[in-house]
Amino acid sequence: MSENTRGTSTIEAAVGTFWKSGKEALQRGDIDAALREFERAVLAFPEMGLAHAALGSALLAVKRFRESVPVLSKAVTLIPDDASLHRQLGIALYETGDYEGSSASFRRALQINPYDTNDLFNLAETCSMRGQFAEALSYIEQIIVLTSENSGALRAYALLNQKLNKPDHAGSALMRLETVSKSGAVQAPQTQPVLGMINVEITTYCNLSCSGCLRTVKTSEGTWQKRHMSYETFKWIIETLPPTGWLGVYGIGEPTLHPDLAEMVRFARSARKFNSVAITTNAMARMPEYYSQLFDAGLSALTISVDTLDPALIDQLRPGTDVERLKERIRALIEAFSGKVDICSVISRMNIGSVPDLLKELNSIGKLTVNMQPFDDLGNPKGCLSLEERAWFTHRLHEIAKPYGNLKVNAAPHFIPSGSICNKPWQSPYITVDGHVTPCCRIVDPGLKSLGNISSSSFSEIWNAPETEKWRRDFIVRSPSVCDGCPMHVSRKDPSGSVK
Ligand SMILES: C[S@@+](CC[C@H](N)C(=O)[O-])C[C@H]1O[C@@H](n2cnc3c(N)ncnc32)[C@H](O)[C@@H]1O
Ligand code: SF4
Ligand code: SF4
Repeated sequence: MSENTRGTSTIEAAVGTFWKSGKEALQRGDIDAALREFERAVLAFPEMGLAHAALGSALLAVKRFRESVPVLSKAVTLIPDDASLHRQLGIALYETGDYEGSSASFRRALQINPYDTNDLFNLAETCSMRGQFAEALSYIEQIIVLTSENSGALRAYALLNQKLNKPDHAGSALMRLETVSKSGAVQAPQTQPVLGMINVEITTYCNLSCSGCLRTVKTSEGTWQKRHMSYETFKWIIETLPPTGWLGVYGIGEPTLHPDLAEMVRFARSARKFNSVAITTNAMARMPEYYSQLFDAGLSALTISVDTLDPALIDQLRPGTDVERLKERIRALIEAFSGKVDICSVISRMNIGSVPDLLKELNSIGKLTVNMQPFDDLGNPKGCLSLEERAWFTHRLHEIAKPYGNLKVNAAPHFIPSGSICNKPWQSPYITVDGHVTPCCRIVDPGLKSLGNISSSSFSEIWNAPETEKWRRDFIVRSPSVCDGCPMHVSRKDPSGSVK
C-alpha cells in the first residue's frame, strides 16, 4: 500500500505503535523483540524517516554498528535537519573505522547546531584518528571558548599540543586544568542546549561612534534611542530562556556602561543554562581593574574590538578610541585574565590594507586569538568588501599571519558564503533593549522585524509561535528583504525561478 492511500497521521500513528512496542521491548531488555518491531516499521513504511531512525538508534545501542550504518544513512536522507541523527551516523561510521565518513556526519551535525560541544569533541576525535591534529585542536579550542573551563577540553588541548610539539601551550592548559579542578569551577549547563546562541542587548548607550555601527548611522539621522535594559527585565528574560550554548550580554551599545552588568552576568551564570556567558567591549569605557568583578561574577570570555592600532586610521574606524590606552588595556587584560580574552577585528575597505600592521602591533602585545569578521552594511555600505576581496583575503590570511607567532588568527566562516541557508532564525535569536525578539543579531531594529515582545509573552511562546514558524518556512523559500546584503545571506532561487 502506498503512502498516498493513507492519511499522514494514520502512518505516523502506525509507526508510533511499532515504535512504542519496540521501546517497551527495549525496556524489558528484549532487544531482539525491539529490533523486530522497528524492522516491521521500516518494512511497512520505507519512506518514513522516524522508522529508520528508531531502528538505526536501536542497532547502535546494541553495538551492531555495521548494520546501523545503512539504516541511519537512510534516516538522515529522510530527516536531514536532525543533528542527533547525523551524530549517531557519525558514531556508527567511526566504530566501523570509516573516519572520513564519520567526520562528514559530525560536520553536518555542526552545520545544524554549530555550538554542540559533543559534536565538536567527536569531530576532534575523528580528526585525531586521521592524524589531523591541527584541525582537531581547532575544534577543541572552540569548545574552550564555548565552555571556558571544560576540563575534558583542556585535557585534550594539552594532549594535542604535545602531539604538535607545542609544549608551552600544553603546559599552560595543564596549569589551567589544575586550577579548574581545585576551584571546581566547571559550570556545565544541566541540559543539552536548545539554542546555539543569543544576544541580549542590555544597553544602547556608547562612548564611541564607529563608522560602520548602526548606532552611529541612526544617531546621525537623529533616530537612535539611548536606553539601559532594567535588571528586572533581564532577569525575566534569563528565567524564560531555554538552555543555550552561548549568551552574549550585549547588543548594539557598550555593555560596560550598564551599571548592573556584573549582577546580570552573575544572575545569568547562576541560571546554569549557558555553556558560556560573554561580552564584547571597546575597552575604552573602563579601567582594566573593572573587569575583575565581571570574571568574579562568572564571565566566561571577553572580546575586545580592535579594527586598527594606527593613530592615523583610528578616527576613520572607531572615533573616540585612544590607541595607546587601548594597547595598554589589552596588555593588562590578557595578563590578568589569561586565556579568556580575545580580539575581534572587523575587516573593511578602510583597513584591509593595514591588516599586517594591525597583526604586528597585536603580536607585540602578547599571545592572542584574533577573530576577523567582514564589515557588514548596517546602514553605511561604504566599507563593505566585494565577494572577490573577501575570498582573496580569506585565501591570503594564513600567509599574512605567518610571521606573528604570538597570534592565532581566524577568519569567520561567513567571509565566503557557505552555500547553505542561514540557520540563525532557528538557532541564534536576539533580544533588543526594549524586549523585542528578532531572528538574529543582525536584525536589531524591531521596525524591520520583531517576532514579539517579552513584555507580553515569554521567550518560548514567541520563538515557537505559529507566526514565527511560518516566517521560518517562508525564509527557507525566499529570503526576506531584511536579509539583503547580509554576509550570511545565500543567493538561492525563489519559486518564480528568478535568483534572489
Ligand atoms: C556593536 S558592537 C557592541 C560591543 C562593543 N560596543 C564593541 O564595539 O565591542 C559588537 C561588534 O560589532 C562590530 N561591528 C560594528 N559595526 C559593524 C559592521 N558594520 N560590520 C560588522 N561588525 C560590526 C563591532 O566592531 C563589535 O565587534
Ligand atoms: S563601540 Fe561598539 S556599539 Fe559603540 S559605536 Fe562602536 S561598534 Fe557601535
Ligand atoms: S541571512 Fe543575515 S539577516 Fe537574514 S536571518 Fe540570517 S543572519 Fe539574519
